[in-house]
Amino acid sequence: PEIIGLIGAMDEEIRLLLEGMEDRETVVKAGINYYTGTLFGKSVVLCKCGVGKVNAAVTTQILLDTFGASQVLFTGVAGAVHPELNIGDIVISSSCMQHDMDVTALGYPRGIIPYQEVSSFCANPALVLLAEQACVELKQKYLIGKVLSGDQFIANADVVAELKEQLDGACAEMEGAAVAQVCYMYDTPFVVIRSMSDKADGSAHVNFREFTVEASERSHAILEYMLKAL
Ligand code: ADE
Repeated sequence: PEIIGLIGAMDEEIRLLLEGMEDRETVVKAGINYYTGTLFGKSVVLCKCGVGKVNAAVTTQILLDTFGASQVLFTGVAGAVHPELNIGDIVISSSCMQHDMDVTALGYPRGIIPYQEVSSFCANPALVLLAEQACVELKQKYLIGKVLSGDQFIANADVVAELKEQLDGACAEMEGAAVAQVCYMYDTPFVVIRSMSDKADGSAHVNFREFTVEASERSHAILEYMLKAL
């Protein structure tokens, strides 16, 4: 059967999914635990990739190459960039781009990868639609937009404004575009689903740990809806 790759960013986030898996087996590769089995009746491989683009890229490549995943769903938290987003809202990726890819010194626009046709990686429209349907069904506020990734935790309102103006970002996180680029290279459908944990402006009034539990429950419900429909 088709194998669906599921990537989470944090332990808390994959825990609920992990607990729901049947016939679970663990394979360790490159220091990452890959959990194979079934979830909501579908064959899945679940893993936690760790923080940042390199971790995300290697994990995704192994998911596709070694485990043969034919589509990838990523869930995690992100900093809101679009002004209409509030903490707890969901961003569904229309596309993903690396905001820290910067060859402007040679005349390339910010985010553009030189000598490469594509720098903004489009999510699979059917997966985007399914994620949207899940949000509607769950009465979850969501926005479909560009997910910006970089190896930086954004905590500055001026930077947020730049990410919106220069790159039209909806949210900022640290893995999505790496997952997206590897999926693009392997011609594999993906979608990134992010729950807003903060406004990326340095106002640290959110209890991250508490929010993570909430966000995990939210993404678990979305993935349940999606997996059942896939
Ligand atoms: N993940 C959650 N919040 C983030 C932020 N502000 N910047 C980058 N990644 C994040």
